[in-house]
Formats: sequence, structure tokens, C-alpha cells
Amino acid sequence: MIYTYEAAKREALEATRRAAGAEVSLSLAIPPAGVAADLAIPCFPLAAALRAAPQEIATRLAGAVKLGPLLESAHASGGYLNVTFARSAFAAGVMGDLRRLGDRYGSNDAGGGRTVVIDFSAPNVARQMSVGHLRSTIIGAALYELHKFADYRPIGDNHLGDWGTQFGTLLYAYHTWLDRAGYERDPVGELLRLYVKFDAEARRDPSLRDQARQWHLRLERGDPDARRLWQEFVRHSLAAFQQIYDLLEVRFDYTLGESFYEDKMGEVIDTALRAGVAVEDQGALIVRLDDVGIKTPLILRRSDGATLYHTRDLATAIYRIRTFHPAKILYVVGSDQRLHFQQLFATLRKLGFGDVDYVHVDFGLIQLPEGRMSTRRGRVVFLEDVLDEAITRARRLVEEKNPELSEPEKDEVAGIVGIGAIKYADLSQNRVKNIVFDWERMLALDGDSAPYLQYTYVRARGILRKAGDHIPEDPFDPGATATIPEWALITSLGKFPEVVQEAVQAYHPHLVANYLFRLAQVFHGFYHDVPVLQADTEALRRSRLQLVAGAAAVMRIGLGLLGVRVPERM
Ligand code: ARG
Repeated sequence: MIYTYEAAKREALEATRRAAGAEVSLSLAIPPAGVAADLAIPCFPLAAALRAAPQEIATRLAGAVKLGPLLESAHASGGYLNVTFARSAFAAGVMGDLRRLGDRYGSNDAGGGRTVVIDFSAPNVARQMSVGHLRSTIIGAALYELHKFADYRPIGDNHLGDWGTQFGTLLYAYHTWLDRAGYERDPVGELLRLYVKFDAEARRDPSLRDQARQWHLRLERGDPDARRLWQEFVRHSLAAFQQIYDLLEVRFDYTLGESFYEDKMGEVIDTALRAGVAVEDQGALIVRLDDVGIKTPLILRRSDGATLYHTRDLATAIYRIRTFHPAKILYVVGSDQRLHFQQLFATLRKLGFGDVDYVHVDFGLIQLPEGRMSTRRGRVVFLEDVLDEAITRARRLVEEKNPELSEPEKDEVAGIVGIGAIKYADLSQNRVKNIVFDWERMLALDGDSAPYLQYTYVRARGILRKAGDHIPEDPFDPGATATIPEWALITSLGKFPEVVQEAVQAYHPHLVANYLFRLAQVFHGFYHDVPVLQADTEALRRSRLQLVAGAAAVMRIGLGLLGVRVPERM
């Protein structure tokens, strides 16, 4: 299916191509503010093929072009062919798309039902869920929704770090320094303390590392005591992680931690050996990758026989391919693991798993103005603090803006706004960049923030409620396309589907966030300048109500794709 904005663009391109009378490749640009046109076709790239100056080409095209039903005019301006839309046909088209698709407005069928596995969150057991994992959780959840909206079948898998040498450390520390009462009160806190303690002690006495290694071997060999304790650690950590997932309203289809692949690594190692992809090197098994431009080899097995993070990731990818048959696997993991994924993907290709699209959806760090996060308190506490603080601040905001709400309503709105603010602060910035937490900015009612967008929705809903919550379905009144704010709102609503498409293609949720911010600004301009309920004629009133309803719908749908909910009042 084709959306109206897309159809208008195609009309412009096809009409121009026909007018040019030659095989030319055309591109579209958005005219700068102040130019009364909806699209511009730059003619500079055509100069060679058409043997004329761009200005001349633009003039010639403007004279020859035959416009389709969604276009009104085409005129030359410098080296550009400026095209304007037929406003009433365009507006009727956009309103028709909105009405027909309802909550699915903006969706597309690019995925064609294909499967995409999304590996996200993936915190490490018995350690802190870091803010890096928070980013992965928020970005991964948004990509999940975006892919679903583009007709992919997303599978969310939380690749928990629940295996590896750190459990030897923990088992040793547990048997040596456990504070039982502390463990019973706050198991994860005590495990963290043991972790830190081991580090300090082992710096003084390196022989402790050997003892930890012994414990790790026992665990790997299936010693029942070691296994039982390890399971207990996993259970406690999962419960703590779950609290955060509940607050964030994030869910996974699978939580298959690294330990799930314990019995699947042998086969991978054998396969790699048989294929000649893995070779022995000083007792270890490695995969050389210099032939594909990666200098550091991937280590499949250490000389002491231990497997590694890499080995498990290989087994994981192969398991996912065999089980889910994905077209793509996305790894939402910080950019500090870039080399790891380059090595992983290259090895998978060498092993013959080359027809899957592997993507490392990387992201930068979060920095907090309160200083570094790796404080003595541990980040797990801090992360919960951050979420609690967001809700507390949002509660104050609601109290101030809308004291007449009931107490339970205030709590609910505070949750929606506080958590929304955290998610949006992350998702509104290009994930590749490092981000700095800024409470004021995050909870601002008038900046690029979730509360501002939620507030925009609330205002739109307020108007609709006053109109009896009934969205008129009559033909769109051409008169309601006349003013600058009206037309800006109509075109903005029309662009949403394209933004969704781009966000999925580039794995960039911020494109949706940035679009919604612009939509909010456009809506506020409209709200400020154009009377809706007091419109001069009934036809105008009814069409403007459709615009308000469209803005509310797109705001709710778009924020929903980012995992941000909207309140009815705030
Ligand atoms: N647990 C890992 C970490 O915290 C992230 C795992 C990401 N996913 C993966 N398949 N490697 O660094």
C-alpha cells in the first residue's frame, strides 16, 4: 500500500521524468522554509545528460510537465523545479489514510513477515545492571516495536550473562566471606559486595585467582553444590532485573542466557575445526581473520580448555538461525564491543552462515552529571534510583500542573511521564552519540522531552473531548488547508509513514522521536493560531477536528513505537 505523501512524491518524479524525455536519475529535496513549495527537484545533476544549464532545464521542465491529481503546480526557481501539492486532494488523501488505518497508520509491509531476532538488554548475573544495559533495553524495545510495525516478526532475546569465569570468583567469595544475614536481606547487594571484596583481596593475594578458577572448573564439570548456588545467584539477579523491566514495561520472547549454550559449544568447535576455520595456536583454538581485514583472531577455546564469550555467541547465532530462521539478527550492544561483533560476524560467514544479515546496533555511553556511576554503591542501586528519581520528579510536575487530579491518577501519570522521560531522553538522540543525563531538560514541558510530547497529546485530547469525542468523517473541507499552520500540520501528518520506514531501515529510533518533536511544535502553532471549536463555519470546525484527531493519533502511535505511553490528562 502506498501512503499519500509517497504517492505525491512518485507523481512528481514520474511527471518530471516524462517531461525530461530522457533517462535521468532524479532526486527530491525539501524546499527551505519560506519557499512556497512542497517539494523541489534539483536540476544540477541533469545538466550533463540534458546538455543545458540547470536553470534552463528547470524552466523547460516547468513548461512541459503534466501534473497528476496530487500536484498543483511546478515552477522553476534557480536550478530547481519547485512542486506544490494539490492541497485539497492531498489533505483528503492523508485524512483517508488516517481513518482507514487507525492505530496502524504509519505501518508498512517492508518486512514481508520475515523474522528478525533482536538481542537486547543482556545484563550480567550477580553484577550490576549498568546504564549501558539500560540503553540496550530501551533501544532494543523500540526497535522491536518498529520492526513489528514494518511487518517483521521480531523475536526479542535477552542474552543474559549467566556463565563464565566470574562465577568461579563468586563461588570462592561466597564460601569465604559470605555475610549470611546480609545475603538473606539483600542477595544481589551481598553478591556485589563479595565481588568487590574478591577484587580487593586478589590484588593483595593473586593465588586467590587460582582458587576461583578451581571453583569455575567445578561448576563447569557439574559439581552439584556449585550448580545449586549458581542457580540461586541467577534466580536472585533475575528477580532484581525483573523489577527494572516491570518499571520500564519491557518484555522478551526468550531469556536464553549464555549458560543455555553450554552443551552447544562442542559442536560449534568441531564444525569450525572440520571446516578448517579454526586452528590450533599455542594450545588454544583460534579463528584467524586477517584475510578479511581483522587483525585480532577470535579465540574459540583457551589453552586451559575454557570456552569464552565469543564461543557462546557463535553457538547462540547458530542456534538462532536453526531455530528461528531469521533474515536478520540485531545485536543492541554498546560500541565498545565493536571488535567482538566484527570477529563474530566474520567467523559466522566463514562457517557458511553468510545469508543472514548481522547488525551490531551500537550505541555510546550515558554520562551522568552526578559524576561517575561506578561508585561504591554499585550501579544496580543507582539505576533504580534513577528510575525512582524520574518518577518522583514527574510526580512533583503533575502536582504543580494538575493538582485537581485524584491521588491514584497522579501516581499513574507520574509513572507514565517519569519513565517516558527517561526513555525519550535516550531515544531522541542518535544512539551512536554519548548522552548526558539532564533532569531539567528531560522533564521540561516545553523542550524536546517526553512530557512536552505527552502534553501535546493531552491538549489534543482535551479539544476532542470538548467536541464530544466524536471525530467527524465528512470530506475534508479545502478551506481547512488554507493557512500556514493548517497546511504545516497536514503535511507533517502525511510524512509520518516515511519516517517510520527510515527509522527501521537505519535502526534509528531517534528519527521517530525527532519527527514527533517537530509534529508537536507544528501542532502547538496550529493550536495557538487556528480556532477549532470556534471555527467560522461548521465545515471548517469538522475538518479541523479531524486534524486534531490525526495529531493525537500520530503522537500516540509514534510514542508507542518508542515505548512511551501517553496519559489522558496531566
Ligand atoms: N552481557 C554482555 C555484556 O554485558 C552483553 C551481551 C550482548 N549480547 C551478545 N549476544 N553478546 O557485556
